[in-house]
Amino acid sequence: MPGLVINPASQISGEVNVPGDKSVSHRAIVLTSLAYGRSEIRGFLKSEDCLATLEAFRLLGVSIEEKGDKIVVEGVGNSGLKSPPKPLDFGNSGTGLRLSAGAIAGYNVKAVLTGDESLSSRPMDRIIEPLKLMGCKIRSVSKDKSRKITLPLEIEGGSLEGIFYDMPVASAQVKSCILIAGLNARGTTIVHSNYSSRDHTERMMNFMGGKILVSSNSVAVNPDKKLHGVELDIPGDFSGAAFLIGAALVVKGSGLVIKNVGLNPTRMGFLNVLEKMGACITIKERGYGKYQEPVGDINIKSSVLQGVEISGDIIPNIIDEIPLLAVIASFAKGRTIIKNAEELRVKESDRIANIVRNLKIAGVTVIEKEDGLIIDGSSKFKGGVFPSYKDHRIAMSLAIGALAADGPSEIKEAEFINTSFPDFEETLKKVAK
Ligand code: S3P
Repeated sequence: MPGLVINPASQISGEVNVPGDKSVSHRAIVLTSLAYGRSEIRGFLKSEDCLATLEAFRLLGVSIEEKGDKIVVEGVGNSGLKSPPKPLDFGNSGTGLRLSAGAIAGYNVKAVLTGDESLSSRPMDRIIEPLKLMGCKIRSVSKDKSRKITLPLEIEGGSLEGIFYDMPVASAQVKSCILIAGLNARGTTIVHSNYSSRDHTERMMNFMGGKILVSSNSVAVNPDKKLHGVELDIPGDFSGAAFLIGAALVVKGSGLVIKNVGLNPTRMGFLNVLEKMGACITIKERGYGKYQEPVGDINIKSSVLQGVEISGDIIPNIIDEIPLLAVIASFAKGRTIIKNAEELRVKESDRIANIVRNLKIAGVTVIEKEDGLIIDGSSKFKGGVFPSYKDHRIAMSLAIGALAADGPSEIKEAEFINTSFPDFEETLKKVAK
């Protein structure tokens, strides 16, 4: 497969848009599919991950049409989802699969859920356990007994009971899976976690007429309030914008504006960390649009950065940005310590091991820890050949480092970027001078 060649840039500048938010796009398909009535979705992210979820719901009997710049979904309402004629393949997408499992659990549907090699090695006990407690028949039918509880999953949905569930991991995917199953359970379902995670499911359910109650550490879904069809405008993906923010920070002399980015507070931890590092970033809020997520423009100027320590509550809030933060920290003065981030080992790849391997190729002084890493920043980043490990965020993080490297670089197996940011290369070309 061709690699992505990145030459050092002398500046990152201009005004740019990023594609629709990945997390919100998955939820838009899942929730509007279950709703009563028609929905129209604008700004849907047409990346491989989100298209896999869209295709899965078509196979579950939902009419989903692309009409110009809109996706039109006829929610199934009372008639419910149907058993798919073949296994549902979620490709690389943990979010798509785990949220969809929650949806399927509440209907009289039999389905097999599969994915690519990476998704097939990721833990699924985290959704099997709560869905079983709710009364769903769900099991791993993986033939590879050496692995943990992994794909394929066989699900036979049906009548569910509401539960109180104390999540052992702070995962928005698990929380959302349980809340979505809770839409069709008897009685209230409550999910508790000591750490907060992204809240797009809660916001979208409320926007669609559902009843979600949020207290500091718990979220409750009341199944009596049904979801109805809506018009949704999906904001730009903050996690996609993060790569451009990183590029403008590390390439000297840069000034960049990113327009219409989703500014959900449960996704903004990356900016808090960068502020502590001394980054020059300002935000112009633009209100809420048609959906309960704040949107705005982000203005970035290249900055002299300092190392920081990152740990604890903020980790779920920055989980997708940590590989990129590790690259940015390579350009900062002093030491950056990242702790309590062991979840990174079960993402699309082992992101702790793989970012460490790549930073070593770039000549950065870095130490791998079980739950994180330590980076000694130096502003020296050697161009090189960087393996993506078939992980979109590893590929894009290294591409950002490569823009400020001392020579040309190549990112191997860069096609995995298409799972979340298909226009990444074109967008970089627009802003990198
Ligand atoms: C997501 C939640 C996060 C994140 C993923 C998207 C979501 O995973 O890493 O890219 O949309 O709910 P976890 O909640 O499992 O940490």
